Amino acid sequence: MSHFQPHRHYPMFICRRMLFLALLVTLPLVTSPLVVRAADGTPLTFETDVRPILKAQCFHCHGEGDERRGGLDTRLVRLLRAGGDSGTVIVPGNPDDSLLWQRIEADEMPKGTKKLSADQKAIIRRWIEGGALTARPEPENIAEARFSQEELAHWAWQPVQQPDVPQLDGNTHRTPIDAFIVARLREHGFGHSPEAERHTLIRRVTFAVTGLPPSPAEVDGFLHDDSSDAYDRLVDRLLESPQSGVRWGRHWLDVAGYAETNGGPADDTERAHAWRYRDYVIHAFNANRPVDEFLVEQLAGDELIDGEIDSANPRHRELLTATGNAVKHFQAVEFRWSC
Ligand code: HEC
Repeated sequence: MSHFQPHRHYPMFICRRMLFLALLVTLPLVTSPLVVRAADGTPLTFETDVRPILKAQCFHCHGEGDERRGGLDTRLVRLLRAGGDSGTVIVPGNPDDSLLWQRIEADEMPKGTKKLSADQKAIIRRWIEGGALTARPEPENIAEARFSQEELAHWAWQPVQQPDVPQLDGNTHRTPIDAFIVARLREHGFGHSPEAERHTLIRRVTFAVTGLPPSPAEVDGFLHDDSSDAYDRLVDRLLESPQSGVRWGRHWLDVAGYAETNGGPADDTERAHAWRYRDYVIHAFNANRPVDEFLVEQLAGDELIDGEIDSANPRHRELLTATGNAVKHFQAVEFRWSC
């Protein structure tokens, strides 16, 4: 059982100004359990099974872009039935006669180097074979089809709730989080490991929070601390350590695409001021900045500055740095630093 008690809420989502919006749209697709549904024998529907594939691979040329390539819009089944320059592209029940299938099977679509996997092709074929079903009547207005009910039902977009903590017999948990884990383990007939001995405990929690091992003196102090809240104080000390921001900020830097050079094999030029953004993230974690503020600062920190930018104002500097990662090559920020 884990004794790690998160005292803070770590931010979960990302990112660069534009990428952020792109991610909002694609995140539910990435996690869509395509292969599982394809195997379980339930009838495939456009919204649940096929649309996620087309959305990722076809919509940008066939629906969402300014121009519908080949005259084809793939966003709704009725638009596929209406078809493109060559007429209808699906014949329900008959994949071999469906232009959509023919072009996919021949790897002519999607255009470009990326092609559909064998699993994705199989799903589209089975869906046409099964009658090209929709889960429900399609919206009249294409603007209402931007996100399907399935996408909007993704867990990440649900309002945060305060669930009831499972009530359990026996002294098997110390925190509400443990209660959820123990309840689920019991549901499946499992118990949990015995509590780790103190030496292991301090090593585990120190690595978890700071990414570093405890010093011999810290281990010694914990082993000889008999007070009932020794563990809680240990966790508090670790969370207060600036190293905890380094350790956890790293995850954010990864997803935000932080890099100190511009990449590219020929001319991997340095982003001389990138480290300022890195330090901003670490500081924001250490300061326990609320997730919404943290996001807004990175997407539009510059817009939060009222009036003239004052480079001597530490908050102005911080807000510009927060947005720095979204600004290509940090040019705008570097410009400000160099004035
Ligand atoms: C990069 C742009 C691009 C992408 C991505 C793309 N297509 Fe196309 N598609 C085209 C162009 C251009 C044409 C018209 C020229 C042609 O038929 O080859 C076309 C034509 C078609 C046609 C024939 C339409 C008609 O009536 O003649 C079908 C069917 C089709 N695409 C299906 C798909 C499917 C399914 C996907 C995704 C798996 C996809 N395309 C992805 C560019 C694209």
